[in-house]
Amino acid sequence: MKTAAATFEWGDELPRLEGERLVLRQMRESDAEDVFAIFGDDEVIRYWSSPAHGSIDDARELISDTRKQFEARTMFEWGAALKENDRVIATFSLLNVDMPHRRAEVGYALNREYWGGGYATEGFDLLVAFAFGPLNLHRLEADVHPENAGSFRLLEKNGFKQEGYLRERWHHLGRIEDGVYLGLLRPEWLALKGIE
Ligand SMILES: CC(C)(COP(=O)(O)OP(=O)(O)OC[C@H]1O[C@@H](n2cnc3c(N)ncnc32)[C@H](O)[C@@H]1OP(=O)(O)O)[C@@H](O)C(=O)NCCC(=O)NCCS
Repeated sequence: MKTAAATFEWGDELPRLEGERLVLRQMRESDAEDVFAIFGDDEVIRYWSSPAHGSIDDARELISDTRKQFEARTMFEWGAALKENDRVIATFSLLNVDMPHRRAEVGYALNREYWGGGYATEGFDLLVAFAFGPLNLHRLEADVHPENAGSFRLLEKNGFKQEGYLRERWHHLGRIEDGVYLGLLRPEWLALKGIE
């Protein structure tokens, strides 16, 4: 693979990451309806860390936050748009970005109407390839609810390994929840992908 530059040169917005059916791109205010369709759904946020969006204004705020976080380089949250119509059906994020230690945490949420269609697999592959490629991270982390079977499968098929069980880490929807910590190292991912 093309060796990463020591320091990635960001442009004015998140780089476009193109897959077969999806393009990951910076979100804009006109995506608010699509973002609300994702995060306004109780099923999507069942194992999330914040409550469901109550109105489209919450989606507007999220989009505005993603721009500010990008500018501060603290978190990178892409909208995943269908190439055929540019509608955002998911978001993929690198959060808790720590460049000196070359690590970040991954996050993703997909509109429920599209579950089971391989879109998370496609978008996640783009996210990880960017993180270990151009961004030159060494380690990715994930913190998953113990019952989030779909998320575990997505991570484990991408080579993530379980590293720890964190008791009573989250206060979500009136419950106290545990978290399972997983990690993936760049050399493991390169080996999984057969990249020299
Ligand atoms: C996690 C999420 C993105 C997965 O989306 P998806 O549409 O199921 O993803 P894909 O179709 O690409 O499938 C990914 C893999 O997970 C498997 N999978 C999905 N749901 C599953 C479930 N409930 N149980 C077991 N495996 C499951 C799929 O079969 C597939 O594995 P395969 O390629 O071996 O067949 C989606 O469920 C989601 O948005 N959940 C809500 C948000 C969330 O919890 N995010 C993660 C926070 S840590």
